[in-house]
Amino acid sequence: MSKLLIRGGTCVLPEGCQTADILIDGKKIVKIAKNVEDKDAKVLDAKGLHVFPGLIDMHVHLREPGFEYKEDIASGSAAAVRGGFTQVCCMPNTQPVCDNAAVVGYIVARGKEADLCKIRPIGAITKGEQGEQLAEMGKMKAAGAVAVSDDGKPVSNARIMRLAMEYASDFGLICLSHCEDKELVDGGVVNEGYNSTLAGMKGIPRAAEEIMLAREIILAETLQKRVHICHVSTKGGVQLLREAKARGVQVTAETCPHYFTLTDDVVMSYDANTKVNPPIRETEDVAAIREGLRDGTLDCIVTDHAPHHKDEKNVEYNLAAFGISGIETSFSLSYTYLVKTGILTVGELAKRMSENPAKILGLEGGCLKEGGVADVMIADLGEEYVIDSREFVSKGKNTPFNGMKVFGKVKYTVVDGKIKFTAERE
Ligand code: DOR
Ligand code: ZN
Ligand code: ZN
Repeated sequence: MSKLLIRGGTCVLPEGCQTADILIDGKKIVKIAKNVEDKDAKVLDAKGLHVFPGLIDMHVHLREPGFEYKEDIASGSAAAVRGGFTQVCCMPNTQPVCDNAAVVGYIVARGKEADLCKIRPIGAITKGEQGEQLAEMGKMKAAGAVAVSDDGKPVSNARIMRLAMEYASDFGLICLSHCEDKELVDGGVVNEGYNSTLAGMKGIPRAAEEIMLAREIILAETLQKRVHICHVSTKGGVQLLREAKARGVQVTAETCPHYFTLTDDVVMSYDANTKVNPPIRETEDVAAIREGLRDGTLDCIVTDHAPHHKDEKNVEYNLAAFGISGIETSFSLSYTYLVKTGILTVGELAKRMSENPAKILGLEGGCLKEGGVADVMIADLGEEYVIDSREFVSKGKNTPFNGMKVFGKVKYTVVDGKIKFTAERE
């Protein structure tokens, strides 16, 4: 068994930040204390650095099987550890759709082959993500699925969603809902508002997201089942969630860095790297998303990492694919826009990016503790750098953040006690 001693870092522990050493033996953290000695251990000097629980991204698109020209499980895993993630949950909108145990098993096997971070597949809610017949959730769970979702598409039929929530809960799975009323979206490509008018681009109203979000809350409330809301982008959505949570509805929710850092002013550039679904909204939405993260209405920060080929973005805005390659910039953007600004503490950021996703999906990890799994991320919070998409190891270079100055550089990512990413070696 190999041992690793992470020495002298500021450890982000459940009880607060503390300078301590962390001794790892094999896949477990065995000691967190000051002045730990172990002559057999490899020493990793973390002085001046922050030691976080390994980040967990419960919403990514790794594109394999079927769209390997956009990303594959190996390239997505490499991007994930470069972003500080030790576990990622991948959405089923692949080809074939991950709607059965065979595809789930294939993704698990490919993740183990890549051997970088832990790959947790999400199974489809309906066969082929067609929104008609429920997928075999029990078999997918047995093969390793950690949740179900038709992400990329909404489950438009409320009766199917009702059945899905009931059926998923029989297997201890939670439905992750991509909320979008397609009739209201009606071919829109950006947020509906002043800028869409000015740019001459068709808008997507906030109501398209909020109507389905309200439906999911009502279903979860009447059925007394859990539901998780994907990529919340609007002020009204945050308010619906806050009120539902106050009533005791078992609803949790996530947002993404692009919803708390950018306004739809960016679409005036006509740069298709700003095209994402749901769309980037307006100043008051950004403020509400930040407040939702602060007060805990929004439980998690996810990336919705959606890598695309440059030919799918380097076209006119209306025709470009929706999505942002986000897994390599999420930590720095979150630290810069939420912690540096005083909205969240470092500990609260760790909750949103690791502990809460682990709790919602029942995954291992999520916090640094003795006896816990040795999934760790080490970052230099003082380091400022410029985001450069050419440095991405993801195949998807599609980011609206290129050239932006940010703080907080991921230095090491440790998965099951093994160093899987080192910034110095880049
Ligand atoms: O922007 C998005 N990209 N939103 C989605 O819902 C799907 C995703 C994708 O798969 O590219
Ligand atoms: Zn989605
Ligand atoms: Zn998605």
